[in-house]
Order: sequence, then C-alpha cells, then structure tokens
Amino acid sequence: MTGKILFFTILFVVCGVLQSKISSKIKVCKRSDPQLSECIINSINDLRPSLATGDLGDGINAPPLEPFSIENLDVGQNSDFQITMKNLSIRGPSTFKIDKFRANINDLKFDLIITLPKLNIKGQYILNLRLFNTPLRSNGDILLKLEDYRAKINMKGIKYLRGTNEHMKFERFNLKIHQGKVKLFKLTNLFNGQKNLEEAANSIFLENSEFVLSNVYPSLEARLGELFTDIANNITADATFDELFPN
Ligand SMILES: *[C@@H]1O[C@H](CO)[C@@H](O)[C@H](O)[C@H]1NC(C)=O
Ligand SMILES: *[C@@H]1O[C@H](CO)[C@@H](O)[C@H](O)[C@H]1NC(C)=O
Repeated sequence: MTGKILFFTILFVVCGVLQSKISSKIKVCKRSDPQLSECIINSINDLRPSLATGDLGDGINAPPLEPFSIENLDVGQNSDFQITMKNLSIRGPSTFKIDKFRANINDLKFDLIITLPKLNIKGQYILNLRLFNTPLRSNGDILLKLEDYRAKINMKGIKYLRGTNEHMKFERFNLKIHQGKVKLFKLTNLFNGQKNLEEAANSIFLENSEFVLSNVYPSLEARLGELFTDIANNITADATFDELFPN
C-alpha cells in the first residue's frame, strides 16, 4: 500500500515537472544569471529554426518567418502616387542577427536591435499615378531586394496574478525600422508593358525607393510590433514568471 502511494507520488511529481507550461523548445534563463542578456540571445538563436517554420513546440504556433507573408501594404493613399502591394512573400527574416540585447529583469525591460542582412520580397502591386493630370493605372508583380535593414525593439513586461500564480505579459512592443539599402525595386507590366516607359519608371522608382518605402514604415512598424507582441505573449501565456525566469 505504502509502495503504491509512493509510486503515484513519484509519478505525479515527474508528470508535474514534465508538464512545465513553457515549450520544451525554449531554453529558459535564470533571472540571477549574471550573463542574462547573453543567455536570452542564445535562447532566441536556438529558437530560430522554430521561428522560421512557426512551430514553436507544444502546440504553440506563430506565423512562419520563412517566408513571412504580408497581405497588403498601402503607400501614399492621398497623393498623386498611390501604390498598394499585395500578397507579399518575404524571404530572409529568419536570418536576423542580434546586434544588441539588454535585459533589465527588475523593470522587465528588454531592448533589442537586430539586423536583417538580406530580404527578398515578391508580390503584386496596383499603382495609381497622376502624371500631367492624366491618371495612370498599372498592376503586375513587384520585386524588392533589401539589405541591412535594422529594427529596434523595446519590450516591457508586466507581472499579473492568475489565481495565486504570478505571470508576465508584454505591453505592445515599440518597433522602429531603420532603413538599409534598397538593391532592387522593380515593378513588372508597368504602362501595359511599354518597355521604354517601364524601364524609365523603374529606374525612377529605384532612385526614389527609400522615400517611397519610408511611407510604409509607420504602419508596418505598428503591425509588426503588434504581431511580435502577440507571438511573445503566446509563448509566455501559460508559464508562470518562475517558470520563465527561474531563480
Ligand atoms: C496566439 O494564439 C492564439 C490561440 O492559440 C492563436 O489563435 C493566434 O493566432 C496566436 N497569435 C499569433 C500571432 O501567433
Ligand atoms: C500570391 O503569391 C504567390 C506566389 O508568391 C502566387 O502563387 C499566388 O497566386 C498569389 N496569390 C494571389 C491571390 O495573387
């Protein structure tokens, strides 16, 4: 009888340990670790293949980073130059490099700077242009090659009680895009495929691409900030603070 109770007790304890509420794919860091920032950097780097596929383990799913999809982006809605980019497929986000990471566990502040060495973007566009008072409309494929884009992300966690357990969730990330180099900005089927016009227009776009793209950043920053906050909160949702950052 005693043996049976002992057996069930052990089984219960073992299951309890195995049933930790954080995905087994995520390496947790001790909050007392003097190298906490480095530990978290390693943990994020280890998670990279899972971030690429979006399978974060233990039933936690996120939108895949590779390729990363954006349904649509609008530029210059109230101007003579309006472009809508649709169905964008972005290759390269999972090759991000962490340039800087600073964790302040007392204030639950995490500041991150990443570089995206290469991004290849494919999708469709709809262009509405007013040229010498003549409206022009084109649609076709858009190709973009971007290099060395950077993003600065500030994260702030807040602790809250669920029952008697302390949990943590993130406030909306503050995300800022720092423009890198635009290597290719190409629209196909411009002006019904009139080759000379198309080439001329594409070289104008490439020359002005940084300006054109800069119009997209505020809404892109807000959307990516929200998305990454949701992903992070999905990862941490069921774990207590002690499971996330053990003593
Ligand atoms: C977060 O989790 C919910 C519930 O599993 C899921 O519906 C949602 O798509 C997830 N959000 C992200 C951004 O992964
Ligand atoms: C979206 O793009 C993919 C290729 O990246 C293409 O196969 C698909 O047809 C596109 N979908 C729409 C609705 O245009």
